[in-house]
Amino acid sequence: MPSSTTSEKGSQPSQATFRFRCIGCGGMTGSAAQDFRCSECGNLLEITDASWNSHNPIALKSLWRERRTLNAALDLSGVWRFRELLPVPESGEYVVTLREGNTPLYELPQSSRATGISRLYAKHQGINPTGSFKDAGMTVAATFARQAGYRWVACASTGNTSASMAAYAARGGMRSLVLVPEGKISWSKLSQALDYGALTCQLRTDFDGCLRLLQELVRRAPVYQLNSINPFRLEGQKTLALELLEQLDWQPPDHIIVPGGNLGNSSAIGKALLEMLEIGLIPRLPKLSVIQAEGANALVRTLREASGKRLVSVEAETRATAIRIGNPASWEKAVKVLQATGGACEQVSELEIAEAKAAIGAEGIGCEPASAVTLAGLKKLLHQGFVKAEETVVLVLTGNLLKDPDFTMAFHRGDLFRGTAQEQESLKLNSFRHPPVVIDATLDAVIKTLEQAEKSDATDSNA
Ligand code: F0G
Repeated sequence: MPSSTTSEKGSQPSQATFRFRCIGCGGMTGSAAQDFRCSECGNLLEITDASWNSHNPIALKSLWRERRTLNAALDLSGVWRFRELLPVPESGEYVVTLREGNTPLYELPQSSRATGISRLYAKHQGINPTGSFKDAGMTVAATFARQAGYRWVACASTGNTSASMAAYAARGGMRSLVLVPEGKISWSKLSQALDYGALTCQLRTDFDGCLRLLQELVRRAPVYQLNSINPFRLEGQKTLALELLEQLDWQPPDHIIVPGGNLGNSSAIGKALLEMLEIGLIPRLPKLSVIQAEGANALVRTLREASGKRLVSVEAETRATAIRIGNPASWEKAVKVLQATGGACEQVSELEIAEAKAAIGAEGIGCEPASAVTLAGLKKLLHQGFVKAEETVVLVLTGNLLKDPDFTMAFHRGDLFRGTAQEQESLKLNSFRHPPVVIDATLDAVIKTLEQAEKSDATDSNA
């Protein structure tokens, strides 16, 4: 069996050739400071590699396809399978992998019918080892942390990054420090970090406060930060787009729609699309659109009120706690990819998120609330005429349904909007609710319940 770390001689990556490039002034360096910012202008760094352009696209496509039949640990990973377009460590022995990636692309027949979009897909990143898209980036960043010899890795998180980081640190023999906002992340995510052995600090602040503190910490203590400011994370997350295009036989969809929080993922997907176009892997760019919760809409406001030139921060509030972020670190990267691909940026209400999440659940797929903003946003973009019914659309579902059971239970029990301004309006979502029923443990009681369900199904279908 392949191990979680690799040492197979045949799968040794070649010597590293990548460089760091500042997204502001374009300055290039061979190494990055702990805060992953340009020493000249202070902007964020990204990774680039001149060798990426030297590949023959047809040869790459067949190499990547062939690797799906191989059993070496690097090939079993849906991230490292695409290593020709990734920064590679000095030796395969540093690679920390949990066989991330390889996530399904599902059709969404019910939502297709409801929206009129016949080619509507969900790329489900919740089907990753720790249940979110973070694993694709974490395998790369944890690998480089290990190569650099760090004992401690650290992150600020709304829950998924911390779960993923803790898992990869544990597999890579490193200690992990987690900073999360107290009371504002789901128990399910917090419990993952605990089980994977993280030192978990619940701070009396929000995500933005946690991230600020982490920035100060990395200047004072020898810890390696694994937030998406870390450009190795974004390189791994690029593979979402590579794998998606491979699943679509390299025919680009018209639209890819992704949730926006700290804006690392949209930046990574956009970077991958631009690189794929440059290399000749795809003939044209899909439009990449970012959807935020109304209560955490910093990018929406940055584009509307400041034409994308300066960040408009917000005091974030949403039940989609994964994207409860008011001061997104990668906003400039996201603005660039939105502009380059011609995508849109929209916001959706708490009610729209709850409805969309229930609709994705009803497809037998499910996702966490933050992922559901994609379907809610699609409906808006369709209504605005930005997306057309005859176009091909891919929604990126970022987290697994099991990530936030409290939200799901509150929704089905009818408690989610109780006591809020949307309580009355939320009644229109009743047809999506399936609360559990408590009945006597008798055959009669079960049969009666079944008959009642049958009757109400018939009423619904006649309605
Ligand atoms: N969806 C989920 C499920 C997330 O966990 C996140 C971010 C996002 C979307 C937004 O992605 O930040 O790249 O724009 N979660 C981070 C965390 C912030 O700490 O887990 P982004």
